[in-house]
Amino acid sequence: MKILDMGSLNLDFVYHVDHVAAPGETLPSSSVEEHLGGKGLNQSIACAKAGACVYHAGKIGSDGMALKEALEENGVNTQFIDQVNDTKNGHAIIQVDKNGQNSILLFAGSNYRITEADVDRTLAEFEAGDILLLQNETTCVQYAIKAAHDKGMQVVLNPSPMSAELASMDEMKYVDWFILNEVEGNQISGETEPEKICDSILTKYPNAHVMLTLGGNGCMFKDKNIVARHPIFKVKVVDTTAAGDTFTGYFLAGVVKGLPMEKTLELASKASAIAVGRPGASPSIPSLEEVESAQL
Ligand code: RIB
Repeated sequence: MKILDMGSLNLDFVYHVDHVAAPGETLPSSSVEEHLGGKGLNQSIACAKAGACVYHAGKIGSDGMALKEALEENGVNTQFIDQVNDTKNGHAIIQVDKNGQNSILLFAGSNYRITEADVDRTLAEFEAGDILLLQNETTCVQYAIKAAHDKGMQVVLNPSPMSAELASMDEMKYVDWFILNEVEGNQISGETEPEKICDSILTKYPNAHVMLTLGGNGCMFKDKNIVARHPIFKVKVVDTTAAGDTFTGYFLAGVVKGLPMEKTLELASKASAIAVGRPGASPSIPSLEEVESAQL
């Protein structure tokens, strides 16, 4: 079973600040770093580090070759990544405050150059039963969901960043796996309690699987057969960027490998706790060996 991640590839400019800048405020930063990120890239690398077979599809801009190289270095197949030379790569301006919390401003750039023809050409190389993983930082998300569903692929949606259009889209009915946080769960279901968020999604889409992350309260998985929860591993927070992406990649790899759900949640929770203790997006994602040997 192959995982195709059709997702964003961003250059992340990370500024360390006392607090996130308020409207109208001019704020000095103590340092700036440039990292490779994008929810798509981070999730592909996390899946690959967790031991899954991952293909990444997407578009890099004239300045984005390092992103493709990083995916290759981490064992991700990049044959479906194209470079568009007449646009800049997508990028993110990330403020990380003294508590490790972040605020992210996105410029889509090359990520918005994925076309329906790109989706069709890429999906033609995959089969029923393979997995399509999507976030919401690229074009053609809705088109790709329907096209993958029509082929018999399993659709995994991490609806981040959430938009009103995504929350109300008709294609939600084709999503097999939802991987989302409480805020996104609330935007889709209107509910605030974790149990009610899961139940509301499962009432509408009874065959779906819901993986809900709950920040400091851990995570909850629910489908028509299983309910499982896992608490967080408590660590010193350095930078929360890509913690959710690390969780998503490790979770999906556990599902593909057929691990018991309790084990999958434990590995995903541990991997994201390690990522929270390190700076940057993709550089913070731990290897499977690190996750398995970590004493948290
Ligand atoms: O989830 C973290 C990611 O969100 C960052 O790497 C940034 O590029 C944005 O896509």
